[in-house]
Amino acid sequence: MAIIAPSLLSANFLQLGDECRMLNESEADWYHLDIMDGRFVPNISYGIPVVAAIRKATKKPLDVHLMIVEPEKYVEAFKKAGADIISVHIEACPHLHRNIQQIKSLGMKAGVAINPHTPVEMLYDILGEIDLVNMMSVNPGFGGQQFITHTLKKIATLREKIDHDNLNVLIEVDGGVTPGNAEEIVQTGADVLVAGNTIFSAKDPKQEITKLKNVTRFALKS
Ligand code: DX5
Ligand code: ZN
Repeated sequence: MAIIAPSLLSANFLQLGDECRMLNESEADWYHLDIMDGRFVPNISYGIPVVAAIRKATKKPLDVHLMIVEPEKYVEAFKKAGADIISVHIEACPHLHRNIQQIKSLGMKAGVAINPHTPVEMLYDILGEIDLVNMMSVNPGFGGQQFITHTLKKIATLREKIDHDNLNVLIEVDGGVTPGNAEEIVQTGADVLVAGNTIFSAKDPKQEITKLKNVTRFALKS
């Protein structure tokens, strides 16, 4: 059964309190919070005060996805705002190992996010240090995009590597996840599914989360 991490990017920001209550009552496991700086990605989302407000509205883990350059400048502020997990992009971090040490030294779980075009092998020398890989299955910057199917190959390769080396690293898949493709993604090796648009554009978002949970409930990893 996969961990379901709804992305608040597609939430109704005018009713954020209601959206949080809905998520708290739902089968969602984590909150996925997408932070964009208009530099690493061609979009700007929301920042530290919003994360702090969400922290007050839930006890569920906050999974913060930093799509920003120079994340080292802000990691401590996100910790203070209540982040439990922080992922930084491999493409934004020339000194990735240092970024990971910083996140862990602040008592958080550390993740590395990787863009669709970046070879999965680029992660191999950091896998022993991290808790999670955020495998981007769309180009980061926007919600509501189509799942890039090539990602399945990358998930399979990474699953094999993690199992072979007996590592304790979760594979999170982020972008274009729906109840229609969730089972295949989990069968291929994913542990965590991020979903934004499919949940928040649904008539019954709570039910959509249950659907995602259910289709992955009996999905066996190949
Ligand atoms: C994209 C973000 C994703 C996105 C997922 O840059 O990292 O978390 O919000 O949303 P959907 O499910 O709409 O693709
Ligand atoms: Zn994300």
